[in-house]
Amino acid sequence: MGISPIVKGVQETFPLEFDANRYTIQSFTFENKEYKVRAFENIIYVANPIDTAYQKMNIYIPEGYFHNESINGYSIESAPIFFPNGIGGYMPAQPKTLNDAGKRDIFGQLPGGNTHRTPPPLAGNMKEGSAIHYALSKGYIVASAGARGRSLKNADGIFTGKAPAGLVDLKAAVCYLRYNDKKIPGNKERIISNGTSAGGAMSLLLGATGDNLDYKPYLEEIGAANVPDHIFAVSAYCPITDLDHADCAYEWQFNGINTYEAQMMDMISGITPNKTTSDQLSEKQIEVSNQLKVQFPIYLNSLNIKDEKGNTLLLDEQGFGNFRDYVGSYVIQAAQKALDAGKDLSNVSWLTIQNGKVTGLDFEGCIRNMKRMKSPPAFDTFDLSAPENHLFGTEAINAQHFTEYSYKNDPTKGPLAAETIIKMMNPLYYIGTPNTNTSQFWHIRYGTIDNNTSFAIEVIVATLLKNKGYEVDFELAWNRPHMGDYDLGELFDWMDKVCK
Ligand code: DHB
Repeated sequence: MGISPIVKGVQETFPLEFDANRYTIQSFTFENKEYKVRAFENIIYVANPIDTAYQKMNIYIPEGYFHNESINGYSIESAPIFFPNGIGGYMPAQPKTLNDAGKRDIFGQLPGGNTHRTPPPLAGNMKEGSAIHYALSKGYIVASAGARGRSLKNADGIFTGKAPAGLVDLKAAVCYLRYNDKKIPGNKERIISNGTSAGGAMSLLLGATGDNLDYKPYLEEIGAANVPDHIFAVSAYCPITDLDHADCAYEWQFNGINTYEAQMMDMISGITPNKTTSDQLSEKQIEVSNQLKVQFPIYLNSLNIKDEKGNTLLLDEQGFGNFRDYVGSYVIQAAQKALDAGKDLSNVSWLTIQNGKVTGLDFEGCIRNMKRMKSPPAFDTFDLSAPENHLFGTEAINAQHFTEYSYKNDPTKGPLAAETIIKMMNPLYYIGTPNTNTSQFWHIRYGTIDNNTSFAIEVIVATLLKNKGYEVDFELAWNRPHMGDYDLGELFDWMDKVCK
């Protein structure tokens, strides 16, 4: 089971019954209109929490529903539940609120965010803020759960938020909503999760692993309501996922680019200033890149995934083949969409455009333009410094390996995480498997200039889902860096379509 008895939660037991009278009225202005909501905040969503600072949820309900109004065709019973998480960098996350709806917990602001690999805080043009407002204005009920994360410790210095804690917490919050179905407005069969980056990965996991019993002991440990935890649909932006294959996928994409540029982080304040570090890969790192790169075709070919025409997507030993072209086709589609929307792409040297149509892509040019962010291995670092190493720690160990390759090649022989835990953090192992209720509907976006992980990972997730019969709206988003919620109009149109 992997749960040792040393972690004692908060000694108090919390009720799993929703208190419909414990709310405040709050308001916000969105697109020049004022909206009133009932705000149920800081609800502890498990009976035996480990950390009440994070295992709590905020629920916002349009006030109109309590006066028999219908909003956007939804009623108090039929309203879907938008379930955004604020997780970044696999760190602990507070539930989102109406006012700070704009902020994802900035990865790195808490101690434990570390190394120069830490990506920048959300770009200045980030519009994430409006997702909660947007949802409420469209008649959605919003439930945002906090979750434990990799840096969290209890008073005895024991780590309490290592994998799979954050995911288990989000599942427990879903259970709370389902358990209180009669008392909490909204349709519990229309829960739509949403997250960005590590939060996007958590969103995928919620959708992929619904009701799977692997997580049950962990849910029991924290006293989650004993009801199903599956959700209806998933929205994920730039998910950092398939972690146990992300290193080789990264080198498939970036091999040959021997400079990397990463954001510096102040180790004391944990704040990422506007400063980048740029460095050459060493001879050793180039060798590592070469070794990882050749692993990727073996992995990809083992998946047996197919394009829309039924062609199996494959790569040769050098990493060329129809899978590469298929990944490229998503870049082309992204460029075409931007072109159709009136963007001037005439100075994009790696695209061929003829008569308003994007007819060609220089894949390598595209990758050179986006630059390499991480040195190899990008995720399972030899020195255990990456956020993902910290995710895979235990109650007593801060950081571990999660791939055979890095475990074997670490000169200091750092520890390897348990296979069961690595599995539990990878949605690909669960999609459509027996005794799992995988969500039917998926909306996944990844920016064309996001170098936090490889395009290949995103394409694999989307394609595998499609091949297994799920409905997937997947696009690369033109010129978007590592960020989320930039296409809320499209996102909510999609949600309305799948919900109604
Ligand atoms: C995030 C970004 C990363 O590059 C990563 O490796 C893990 C998480 C994030 O922004 O959440």
